[in-house]
Amino acid sequence: MKIAIGCDHGGIDLKEAVCRVIEELGHQIDDQGCHNSDSVDYPDFAKSVCAKVQAGQCERGILLCGTGIGMSMVANKFTGIRAALCQEIFSARMSREHNDANVLCMGARIVGAGLAQEVVRAWLTTDFAGGRHQRRIDMF
Ligand code: RB5
Repeated sequence: MKIAIGCDHGGIDLKEAVCRVIEELGHQIDDQGCHNSDSVDYPDFAKSVCAKVQAGQCERGILLCGTGIGMSMVANKFTGIRAALCQEIFSARMSREHNDANVLCMGARIVGAGLAQEVVRAWLTTDFAGGRHQRRIDMF
């Protein structure tokens, strides 16, 4: 898969660790920035990543900010984007299995690099269950 990744200054510390897992799992990365710790506005990066997913240029997106909250709020404004804020493994798995989440949000001030890597691993290796869950997704 091709995965778009974006972060703000609050999420930059997690990006490298997250990218390592994405590559280890054999996926490609489309890095939409930011690229340093200068203060930036998270909506810009959420928009870039969601646009890539909406256009079908990337199958999934990952967004990192301080808490993951701002990124998830912005991402869920985009038609066709189902962004899930997951700060532990169970939510990451369920967001795929039941919600077919196509964007994962995490907060670098909440999760450390090790946990973030395991969240990403679970999120990228869990399939959507379909069936009644697809019916529910079709309702919104
Ligand atoms: C930036 O200071 C911070 O507000 C941002 O990274 C994020 O946590 C917003 O939800």
